[in-house]
Amino acid sequence: MAAPIKNKVKTSFTLRGVEFKNRVFVASGTFGYGDEVRTLVDVSRLGGIFTKSLSWKPRAGNPPQRIVETASGMLNSIGLANIGVHTFIEQKLPYLRALDTRIIANIAASSLQEYCDILGLLEEQEGIAAYEINVSCPNVKEGGLNFGTDCSMTGKITASLRKLTHKALIIKLTPNVTHISEFARAVEAEGADAVSVINTLIGMAIDIKTRKPKLSTVTGGLSGPAIKPVALAKVYEVAKSVKIPIFGIGGIASAEDAIEFLLAGATAVQVGTMNFVDPAISVKIADGLATYAREHGISDMGTLVGALDADLKFSVLQSWL
Ligand code: DHB
Repeated sequence: MAAPIKNKVKTSFTLRGVEFKNRVFVASGTFGYGDEVRTLVDVSRLGGIFTKSLSWKPRAGNPPQRIVETASGMLNSIGLANIGVHTFIEQKLPYLRALDTRIIANIAASSLQEYCDILGLLEEQEGIAAYEINVSCPNVKEGGLNFGTDCSMTGKITASLRKLTHKALIIKLTPNVTHISEFARAVEAEGADAVSVINTLIGMAIDIKTRKPKLSTVTGGLSGPAIKPVALAKVYEVAKSVKIPIFGIGGIASAEDAIEFLLAGATAVQVGTMNFVDPAISVKIADGLATYAREHGISDMGTLVGALDADLKFSVLQSWL
């Protein structure tokens, strides 16, 4: 007897005219430049790879200790260590552009001019589908959170970059502000195509024997499953406030987690810290999403986006949105 035909589930979506084949991505800084893990992960199953943040010049990053394991998560203070945009173009982009997935270049900078210079240079290259703008690194003295916690600066960076590209601009927002939705509204108004919600939460760990901070920079960015409920609430808040798509990110470890983010209003998800536990987890999550869709008679994953069934009468958030 012939095997039953499996219903085909539509997993793709489009952003600024570019089709992404899946709603599951790997997050910046957790997947290197894709080459280290090439034998472990079938990246052609993913929507795309967000590169490690690229600065104009190479950066050595912060001194050790740069990573501390925490309950259900990790604290990092890498300090934007990266090879710099020129070496990226020479040594990594040729490999990346040949992959059967989309490449989203993540850009970090310590001045408005540096953001513009990096994006301008990347614009001349083939093989980049979109840009993610990191205005929210918690681990550097210049740029980083100084920009990402200043709503008018975040808007200004978006407006300046918008003038330089027709490709999708995705602004990665920090949760370390009072109302993340104000920032989402500001970047939407300046022409952003999407937002990534959320970057890491500022955290700290202390060695009680030495009474010293465990991280060289004292504080760092908390990520992993510990932050998932916070991230989900931020995605929900932003989804209620803007029309542009949201890349949900924060502690996603399973297909169930990814579905929660879609229901809260994310168009797609990024898997971050869990790549360090299992480099192939993103593909397993993509598989799990498709299985869920088939089991629930869903023909297009897009129908899950924002499909949360909530009684807004009881919503606390609603009162200040
Ligand atoms: C770094 C850490 C982050 O949490 C982030 O979002 C970006 C960069 C870093 O220290 O390199």
